[in-house]
Amino acid sequence: MFIKSLSTLALAAMLTAPLSTPAAADTFERVKIDAGAELFASDCRRCHSVDADKASYGPLLEGVIGRRAGSFPDYPYSEALAGAGFVWTKGALRAWMEANDELVPGTKMRHVGITDPTVQDFIVSYLASLSK
Ligand code: HEC
Repeated sequence: MFIKSLSTLALAAMLTAPLSTPAAADTFERVKIDAGAELFASDCRRCHSVDADKASYGPLLEGVIGRRAGSFPDYPYSEALAGAGFVWTKGALRAWMEANDELVPGTKMRHVGITDPTVQDFIVSYLASLSK
């Protein structure tokens, strides 16, 4: 399966790349970002744009890390998310992917239920790469 092969790929990268050198750590991060981009494309992109010039059903996710939840200008958030009052961190994004409707009951984002921590990690790496 696609997700399994990605996990295998990351595992192979971990086993073959000694993370003690900065170059190897960079390579590993790049592998994670690329894998995250693929996963984002299949699980999130149908609702979320990462390009401010493109309208999307869900809020723009470029720069989401460090942004207050429910605060992208002019997006019609649910009252629940608009009033959630926390800032998106990597940890909050993981919890959201796993059970968004438990993190913010009343959100209008459909439950996506991404429970595999590796998959969460890849998608977070990808989103972080857009936040720089
Ligand atoms: C079926 C459409 C849909 C899919 C698929 C989807 N989302 Fe969403 N997402 C939304 C909607 C709609 C909102 C706004 C929720 C609200 O206002 O309560 C949202 C909100 C969010 C937010 C909050 C952003 C902010 O500005 O506070 C994040 C983060 C997010 N989604 C991440 C993801 C990720 C990561 C994925 C893929 C794993 C994903 N979403 C998949 C529709 C979707």
